[in-house]
Amino acid sequence: MKKTQIITTVFEYNSVDELPQEEQELIKNAKEAAKRSYSPYSKFSVGAAILLNNKEIIQGNNQENSAYPSGLCAERVAMFYANSKFPDVAVKAIAITARTNDRFLDNPIPPCGSCRQVLLETEARFNQPIKMILSGEKKIRVVENIKEMLPLYFEKDMLNE
Ligand code: THU
Repeated sequence: MKKTQIITTVFEYNSVDELPQEEQELIKNAKEAAKRSYSPYSKFSVGAAILLNNKEIIQGNNQENSAYPSGLCAERVAMFYANSKFPDVAVKAIAITARTNDRFLDNPIPPCGSCRQVLLETEARFNQPIKMILSGEKKIRVVENIKEMLPLYFEKDMLNE
């Protein structure tokens, strides 16, 4: 028997002022996106903003549907759009934020498992870490890459083994 441990390193900040300008800008974009979310069922508005290597910022938000499972999370809306518009450009970072009852949450929210899997595909495809910036009003968490957010991840090489 061999025991291994998978470690995730999380950097925590109390204010956006502690972050570099580029990341503050990305959070601003995620917040703008959250305000345009279509979430009449959950009333939970999520915003995501993706920074590409070519400096473009792509926004996305959650899109719900009366047939509930047909909706999609903000992170996947943003990532699929980024990949569809710039299929050859790698992703540097994604900022995520959420609001409910007309205010942004104090604590950061992490992406769901399906979104992590989708973000991982892009990270692996361009072989470049995607920094994840999870923004709350009172706390910001930063993880340096998606793989750390999805231990024992599944990826394309496993299809051919
Ligand atoms: N949601 C996201 O957009 N991203 C997440 O990381 C978690 C959940 C959305 C899906 C649904 O529209 C609403 O939030 C409530 O789950």
